[in-house]
This record gives sequence, structure tokens and C-alpha cells, in this order.
Amino acid sequence: MLFNGFSRRHFARIAAWSALGISTNSAEASQAGTSKEASRENGLAARGRAAGFPSGFLWGTATSAYQTEGAVNEDGRGPSIWDRQAHIPGKIADRSNADVANDSYHLYKDDVQLMKALGAKAYRFSIAWPRVFPEGTGTPNPKGLDFYDRLVDELLANGIEPFATMYHWDLPQALQDRFGGWMSRETATAFAEYAGHVAGRLSDRVKQFFTINECSRLVDLGYGAGVDAPGLTLAQQELNQVRHHVALGHGLAVRAIRAHGRAGIKVGPAENMVICVPAVETPANIRAAEIATRELNAGYLTVMLEGKYTDAFLAYAGKDAPKYTAEDLAVISSPVDFVGLNVYMPYHYVVAADDAPGFALAPFPASFPHMESDWLRIGPEAMYWAPRHVAKLWDVKSIYITENGTSAIDRPAADGQVYDVDRIMFLRSYLTQLQRATSEGVPVLGYFLWSLMDNFEWSDGYEKRFGLYRVDFRTQRRTPKLSASFYREVIARNAVA
Ligand code: BG6
Repeated sequence: MLFNGFSRRHFARIAAWSALGISTNSAEASQAGTSKEASRENGLAARGRAAGFPSGFLWGTATSAYQTEGAVNEDGRGPSIWDRQAHIPGKIADRSNADVANDSYHLYKDDVQLMKALGAKAYRFSIAWPRVFPEGTGTPNPKGLDFYDRLVDELLANGIEPFATMYHWDLPQALQDRFGGWMSRETATAFAEYAGHVAGRLSDRVKQFFTINECSRLVDLGYGAGVDAPGLTLAQQELNQVRHHVALGHGLAVRAIRAHGRAGIKVGPAENMVICVPAVETPANIRAAEIATRELNAGYLTVMLEGKYTDAFLAYAGKDAPKYTAEDLAVISSPVDFVGLNVYMPYHYVVAADDAPGFALAPFPASFPHMESDWLRIGPEAMYWAPRHVAKLWDVKSIYITENGTSAIDRPAADGQVYDVDRIMFLRSYLTQLQRATSEGVPVLGYFLWSLMDNFEWSDGYEKRFGLYRVDFRTQRRTPKLSASFYREVIARNAVA
């Protein structure tokens, strides 16, 4: 969906460039010097491809609370910023909201059977903070976690491992009203209290927790572009402060989850990193893509994994830099057990440059292909480079692909079936790149396909469909698309089908 001529992801991309004062024009100039190196490195293409994924590779699907649960007024749930946003005229493309969504709050047993039919062994879902603390803080709602108790039991009874995300953007509205949401440190503290409470209650059965889904998008689109809730368009200093508070919230939650959870639980972020792909796979371009990855993720993965903001980030921010303490950085970089990566598309194709910062970003030609969502550029190699950069730059030993998938038009054919061969093409090509990564030893342990079923796609409403199962939102009927058969085959073979 376009907003004043920019798609949401284009905004994020431009924001990432401007964060470092990088222009795309420099890309052409440095491109010329790379062709010799490219031909020297042709041997890279000869890399062997293993027959399949490592044994024990975990195949799953993903959804989030606000996008699927519905039941927004049941069992003491408080309002969230997304309830508020979805009811503001003009914010959602099809004028819908998620008051009912997939009604998974009631239909979760059916949903678990959909996963089982795929042969999936893991499910990534999120917990709705406003169900647990309707006011954001204070006394927990006694019924707040009952739904997740039931869901977790149902998953385990069906041999599916639960992976819970603590925050997938549905902030209790009360915290927005009281503190301006993530504009205040109070929200980071409240988040940790909530996350600790959840871990205390669920970690007898849930062993893997993600803290925050996509810090980058919630900051840039929620507080920068005003497209996602809470719909703010802050100035740069305030935006940098929000970014810092979100990172702080992640770190505080890591500590709280460990403090209140059972021994042996694992925790990490689920980030939509700015994925930098070497435009041509030469050693110089690969190095440039690594530098770019570190710099363009400075406010998120870099600070979480290094415990400091990069010099370039601080220099560019100047007087707008966030205010923080050394203790904040120690909290933000609390050790994690794994890194989750949501991989949809390459953010940049990178070429080496002699001048600082050592890389240039190739401009995207207008003819670059995308899927049904205009932001979703088709660049399967993002699936190889994202985990490879994370493993190499930060020595991360365990990575999950926490989201990957695509929207498609998905119109049922005359026989009622959805022959979504475009989604299959997309998944096959991304999974081939993931297999390239695992066969080279990049430590990816599992993959969660977004999404199990069509759901409420934020400001696109129900117009964009990402599911393996088609959902008729009038009847709540779920029907497998052809891609569900594809994914079932992938899982059964543990290899790209
Ligand atoms: C991811 C989010 O960024 O993108 C998901 O974590 C979302 O929640 C998915 O559904 C697709 O994004 P959009 O904007 O098309 O709904």
C-alpha cells in the first residue's frame, strides 16, 4: 500500500540510508571496479549443494496475536494501540479491523490441526500483552494467560513445539496514554515486568521465547512514518530515543525472562534486519556488505550483540543521538541464546567503495521484481546472506528464521482451489538459498513460514494474503492452498521440494 508515494518498506530503506548519509549515486561509480574481481571469483558458483537440511532442522509456521486472535473484548483483555489504530478511519486499506480476525481465540484447536496436517513441528505465536496486563502494568488479569495455557497444551499434545513472542506490536493503549508508549523508559520497564510474568507462568512448557518482533519496524513505521500504530511522526532525536528504549526493553526482557523462567529456557530477539547482499559475490563486495550490515543495523542487532552504538551511527546522529548510560548498553547486550531473523527481501545490494564508510548501495532499478505487496522485492539470496552475516559478524551460534513468506493474489480457480504457484516459486527459491547456508555450516536451526493462514495484515487489512491456508473471513473456513502441499513435502523430505 502506498502512503504519500512511498511504500512502508521503501520508507525504512530510505531511513536506513539517511541514517548514514549515504547516497545511492555513489554505487555506480564503484561498480566499475568490481568486474575483474567478479570474474576471478566465478569459482564461487561451484559451491556444492547438500541434498537436504541438517537432521533435526525445525520446520514451523508463524502468526501473531493481534493478527489472528480476535476476541478483543473477551476475558478482561484491555485495548491495545492497534485496536485504536484500526478504528481510525483511513488507517486500514480495506477499512477493516482485527476485532474478529481469524477468531483463533476460539478456533485454536482447528488451527493446531492445520499445522499438524503440514507435518510442522514448531509454532511461533505471540502473546497479547493487553490480555495479561490490561492496563500495561499493575495487577495481572487472572484470565490473561489462560488462553495461552490452552494453546500451549494443545500444541504439545499434537507434537508441536511452542515458540512464544512476547511482543508483536500490540502495546496496551494505557501505556501509550500514560507514557507515550516507547517514547518513555517506563514502557521498557513495564515490558520486562510483563515478560517476566509470562515466563514464570508458561516456561514449564514453553522453552523458547522471543522478546520483540522487529524492533526496526515498530520504531520506523510506528513512530517515524506514522503508518503502524501508534501512528506518530517524531523528529529525529525523539525517534532515536524511542529506538533506544525499544532496544532497552529487549535487554530488560531477556533478563526478566531468565530470572522468572525455568532453568534451560532460551531467549532471543526476532529482528527484521536490514539485509545487505553483495551485488556480485567478490571478497571485496562481501566485506562491504558486512560493513553495511553492521552500520545499517546499528540501533538494533549491532547494539544488542556488541553492546555499543557504532561510531558512524553516533556521528551521524550528532545532537540527535539517543541519551543513554553505560548500564543501558550492558542491559541491551545481555547475552542471548539465539537470534531470530524475519527474512523477506534484500534491503540493499552492496558494492565495495574506497571511501568511508567502505560500501555503496546500488540503486534499485524500477524494473526490479516484487511480489503482490509492492515492498516485497524478490531477492532469494537475502535468505543466504542474512544468517551468514549474523553468524560471521557476531559469532552467533544459533539462528532461527522467524518469518519468511509472501503475499499473493490467491484467487480460487473454478474448482475452488488456490493454485498459488507464485508463492511456491518464492518459497522454493528462498529455501534453496537457506539450504545453501546450512550446507555451508551457517547455524540455522529452524524456519517459521509466515504465515500459517491468511490474517489481518496491519494497515493492509485483509487485502494481502500470506497464508498457506486461505481463510474466508465471513465463514472462518480455512482451505489449504497448493503451497500447503509444497510445504508439507519440504517438511517430509527435509529438503527443498
Ligand atoms: C512482518 C511482520 O514484518 O511482515 C508480520 O512481522 C507481517 O506481522 C508481515 O504480517 C507482512 O507485513 P505486512 O505489512 O504486509 O502485513
